[in-house]
Amino acid sequence: MARKFFIGGNWKCNGTLEEVKKIVSMLNEAEIPSENVVEVFVSPPFVFLPLVESLLRPDFQVAAQNCWVRKGGAFTGEISAEMLVNLGIPCVILGHSERRSLLNESDEFVGDKVAYALSVGLKVIACIGETLQQRESGSTMAVVAAQTKAIAEKVSNWANVVLAYEPVWAIGTGKVATPGQAQEVHLELRKWLHDSVGAEVAATTRIIYGGSVNGANCRELAAQPDIDGFLVGGASLKPEFADIIRSLT
Ligand code: G3P
Repeated sequence: MARKFFIGGNWKCNGTLEEVKKIVSMLNEAEIPSENVVEVFVSPPFVFLPLVESLLRPDFQVAAQNCWVRKGGAFTGEISAEMLVNLGIPCVILGHSERRSLLNESDEFVGDKVAYALSVGLKVIACIGETLQQRESGSTMAVVAAQTKAIAEKVSNWANVVLAYEPVWAIGTGKVATPGQAQEVHLELRKWLHDSVGAEVAATTRIIYGGSVNGANCRELAAQPDIDGFLVGGASLKPEFADIIRSLT
């Protein structure tokens, strides 16, 4: 089954007003084949979301980098999923490893967040991935299966879920997973979805790779049968992001 490619640009906690406008201009001028074969999302920090939404080319969309786990209210500092919907923001990244480690977001908490965001109509990029220690101890699949299970236990409709496999040891390190390493985990994840959720979900859910993707390594990764796109960090702030998008078209 052909799955439409998907790419997200995760700007993380970066940018000034001037820098954001320059990045958006760069994106708006990028030459992207118009065959509509890839969904492109960029994910600026919350404070820039409405501005980027207003300036961005119509064939790209914006995503938030997080949202709260339930309906808004007395949760100081949080941004609710309803607020994103109200602003016309269609997508949100949840469970990023930086939030799992720095803010102690548990597998269960991420599962609850994914379910709630889906319930208000958001598309969700749900992040999973193992640490270097977990990989070196041979527990990669056990870890990512547990993370995916915690999501699957709360989600009944996968149509708006994109699974992002981001090995923590490859994030921001320049140590990208080899195409073989990434394909191996993506295939195992697809098998897990087939066995634990169902054949249709396994066949249609995009599983994208993140972790030091750049203009030099994206084509080999994109050629892997179970890599359906990318979640890009550092390189999404640079002109090479357009090269990475084109590697999927
Ligand atoms: O969410 C994507 C991010 O974690 C990957 O970062 O800089 O390794 O592409 P980077």
